[in-house]
Amino acid sequence: MGETLRVEGLQKRFGRSVVVAEDVSFEIPGGTYCALLGPSGSGKTSLFNMIAGLLRPDSGRIWLGDQLFDGPGRHLAVERRRIGLVFQDYALWPHMRVWQQVTFGMRPGRRRPKDAGRWLELLRIEHLAQRYPHELSGGQKQRVAIARALATEPSLLLLDEPFSNLDAPLRETLRDELSGLYRSLGVTVVHVTHDRQEAMGTADRVLIFAGGRLRQDGTPEHVYRAPADPVVASLLGAANLITGRLEGARGAEMLVSGSVRLAGTGKGLCAGMPAVAFFRPETARLHPGRPSGSLINVFSARVRRSGWHDQGWRHRLRLADSPQEVVVVGRERLVDDASVWVEVPVDACRILPPEETA
Ligand SMILES: Nc1ncnc2c1ncn2[C@@H]1O[C@H](COP(=O)(O)OP(=O)(O)OP(=O)(O)O)[C@@H](O)[C@H]1O
Ligand SMILES: [Mg+2]
Repeated sequence: MGETLRVEGLQKRFGRSVVVAEDVSFEIPGGTYCALLGPSGSGKTSLFNMIAGLLRPDSGRIWLGDQLFDGPGRHLAVERRRIGLVFQDYALWPHMRVWQQVTFGMRPGRRRPKDAGRWLELLRIEHLAQRYPHELSGGQKQRVAIARALATEPSLLLLDEPFSNLDAPLRETLRDELSGLYRSLGVTVVHVTHDRQEAMGTADRVLIFAGGRLRQDGTPEHVYRAPADPVVASLLGAANLITGRLEGARGAEMLVSGSVRLAGTGKGLCAGMPAVAFFRPETARLHPGRPSGSLINVFSARVRRSGWHDQGWRHRLRLADSPQEVVVVGRERLVDDASVWVEVPVDACRILPPEETA
């Protein structure tokens, strides 16, 4: 059964300037499937390596269950951490057959072909038991690497970009199949990825990193709808970010940019501060003329370009009296330069701190 992973005040830097972990703290309850999402270079692999015991933190603590992995004067060796590791490049041993790879981490005396059976079956690779890595496809190698990690019956499974070498349809099939498998085994999973669809589509919890800092931690739906700052908002999908200044605060905050006034939910911001109003393209409504009755969260814009995108028309619009642009998804095509009115529901709008202070 999976155990709780707890990370507290983790610090790590390389040299003077590269900070890969800046006071990182979080807790992942046992059995949770957690994705660790962040852009390239944000420190994900460094964090993976610290949890795995491959990289020693400068300070901070890491626990799995009630066992302290790292702390002042303590650094538990990798092989004593009860962790299954899966790397992007599979890291299979070239001279071992599939069944040998899978039994490698098992207790001595349980390293026979039949001991590999359960795991080969779960990963649907029984027919490959006698092959060597060079006789396998990328997807098959990844299944072997995962079988090998699970066969050690770890309390925590750490995956670093496990699917990035696979093509998109295979990636999707594998991730759906495997997330079901991990859940049925009850293992705690930390899945490192820079692919937001992978993170959002599989995990119960998403931890978002940028610049060595944990920016937000929540369910996929929550972090998508209520991002903590503009960086998180943009990482998780198309985001409209209108910069301005807060005018007042009474539950819903008000942002002014040119003649655009947007009320939305915001936290810890004061009147007079620079701020960013955020909404997703699919949450706004378009009107040919000014909608009657709405005084706030309505503004006029001009169509810069309309194009078909996935499931609807995607319109790039320029605000009437500001150079800022927004993207709104609609049901019909709009002609270039047409004038439209945009309505942003108050509950779809968030007022965020500007990036500099985020
Ligand atoms: N051993 C090292 N020595 C010096 N700098 C390092 C070392 N390892 C990583 N870095 C730097 O630390 C930063 C974070 O690297 P890391 O590999 O943790 O990022 P990542 O989020 O996993 O990126 P990617 O998505 O590209 O894999 C990068 O700027 C990297 O160059
Ligand atoms: Mg990495």
